[in-house]
Amino acid sequence: MSYQAKFRVWRGDADGGELKDYEVEVNEGEVVLDVIHRLQATQTPDMAVRWNCKAGKCGSCSAEINGMPKLMCMCRMNTFEEGETVTVTPMRTFPVIKDLVTDVSFNYQKAREIPAFKPPADVKPGEYRMQQVDVERSQEFRKCIECFLCQDTCHVIRDHEENKEAFSGPRFLMRIAELDMHPLDAADRQHAAQEQHGLGYCNITKCCTEVCPEHIKITDNALIPMKERVADRKYDPIVWLGNKIRRR
Ligand code: SF4
Ligand code: F3S
Ligand code: FES
Repeated sequence: MSYQAKFRVWRGDADGGELKDYEVEVNEGEVVLDVIHRLQATQTPDMAVRWNCKAGKCGSCSAEINGMPKLMCMCRMNTFEEGETVTVTPMRTFPVIKDLVTDVSFNYQKAREIPAFKPPADVKPGEYRMQQVDVERSQEFRKCIECFLCQDTCHVIRDHEENKEAFSGPRFLMRIAELDMHPLDAADRQHAAQEQHGLGYCNITKCCTEVCPEHIKITDNALIPMKERVADRKYDPIVWLGNKIRRR
């Protein structure tokens, strides 16, 4: 069954823009991205939208649908009433390039600031051994498709541009936690998480976990354990004494 849906889409660029109203055909089984594509094909050929897989796996089509950070290709039209206006806007936390496309280079910058896996100096490639339980722990974090919806929703940077320098956001704090939990990683992740990536800014609102399309328990399984590890270290008398002696 087809019907005419009411769509309100943000149109504009870095200099500003506005919400524009459209009426557009919707067919059974379609998702928001299908409707945006139909708009492009029939009414707005210059509308910019980023997408790739249409299967929830490339992380390209992130946007805000009725104010909620979502993948457009995974948002089914049958979750809305037929007469309801569906509002589609670009991710708010990142600068707009055009229409629904934002500049997410903030995330690539933060990714570059995290040193790669560092194996112990005395263990050669081919000699790495770890328990299955340690493999499984990081497997959950490796499901990340880098859609940056968690980064978009986190209030620490969503409402405070000035925090972007000091705070890397849930996706990258999770990456640091993944490396810190790796039994063979020899780098000091805990100090970096706190001092360079702003772990302390996270006040566990869990909004990141709520929007993750891969259902990764970002807060419970990465951020809170990382906070505990950092706290243990801070209040561990041996670590404390070591730090004191080193500072002299
Ligand atoms: Fe997207 Fe989830 Fe990865 Fe965040 S953790 S970038 S929400 S897949
Ligand atoms: Fe932000 Fe997630 Fe923490 S939304 S405040 S990083 S729990
Ligand atoms: Fe790939 Fe939506 S188009 S996740």
